[in-house]
Amino acid sequence: MSTSTIANKSASTATADFLPLNGTDYIEFYVGNAKQAAHFYKTAFGFQSLAYAGPETGTMDKVSYVIRQNKLTFVLTTPLKPNNDIADHIYRHGDGVKVLALMVDDATDAWEQTTQRGGKSYLQPTSLKDQNGEVVLSGIHTYGDTVHVFVERKNYKGVFMPGFRKWESDYNPSQTGLLYVDHCVGNVGWNQMNPWVKFYEDVMGFRNILSFDDKDISTEYSALMSKVMSNGNGYVKFPINEPAEGKKKSQVEEYLDFYLGEGVQHVAIATADIVKTVAELQRRGVEFLKVPASYYDDVLDRVGHIEEDLSPLRDLGILIDRDDEGYLLQIFSKPVEDRPTLFFEIIQRKGAKSFGKGNFKALFEALEREQDARGNL
Ligand code: FE2
Repeated sequence: MSTSTIANKSASTATADFLPLNGTDYIEFYVGNAKQAAHFYKTAFGFQSLAYAGPETGTMDKVSYVIRQNKLTFVLTTPLKPNNDIADHIYRHGDGVKVLALMVDDATDAWEQTTQRGGKSYLQPTSLKDQNGEVVLSGIHTYGDTVHVFVERKNYKGVFMPGFRKWESDYNPSQTGLLYVDHCVGNVGWNQMNPWVKFYEDVMGFRNILSFDDKDISTEYSALMSKVMSNGNGYVKFPINEPAEGKKKSQVEEYLDFYLGEGVQHVAIATADIVKTVAELQRRGVEFLKVPASYYDDVLDRVGHIEEDLSPLRDLGILIDRDDEGYLLQIFSKPVEDRPTLFFEIIQRKGAKSFGKGNFKALFEALEREQDARGNL
């Protein structure tokens, strides 16, 4: 179950990759009420029930619901008592991403390679076994309180991992066409982008494939900078944002103020039919940022011919951008919590391997209208 995203020109150098990654294994969210969060992601986004851990399975201090849609797996975890890392994380950050888990063939080697290069250990290689085989986990810290867990599951046949049982539910809303994680973006503090770029280069063997400075990503009021980090085969991409000076507060600063530190800003999810997916998500109550209707007046002059009819894109608020290799269609949700922190991007790539630079200005102006309404601009 590899997560295939963009073919990468450097795939031939994969033999030299000291941290070969097979894709994103799962994303774990620490949330205030995992039962309700699971219901939300099933109902609104079309995830399917997969697995459960809690007191009934011998996990006495927390519950976790695992939900899946195609190659996209979310784990939603809530503590059952206060005074532990999970409760503290939720108290400080609100609901948010704790774990960006990466699929590896050898979790012990991944931990050794990364900690030798300066990665701070989060979890020493740990073997979990049940009647379905063995999963080996290990992990390192990244920005803020976020961690990477390396998951080795080649010797496991069970539904998720030891400690979990299959979650059979009578409530099974249909899927919405979400396929896999395209990229996960981190927001870091002032002057912290380059240190974290170096972390991904030195500790994890990633390389910087794209950079945006404050001239690329600025409106009249606020700015940010971003560098996109990719692993060797291109399956895993982590853009890193930091705020930049503007007349008013950057959206990254607002995030840092409300998350109380660095963390995951958005998870971009791929679809093969963005019109169908986004129409369905909106019907189910997912809220998206809207750009002004005037965006569509001249968008085709900018991006050239596209296969889709413009009118459903305009009706749904889907944005279009083009690079040397093709075009992409994308849309951004509003934050999915009360704090203005984590949101989702839905993306359909039609050749383009970039991230929608041509949409940044229209998008950030839309975002600033929301920020202003919250009194944080
Ligand atoms: Fe993105």
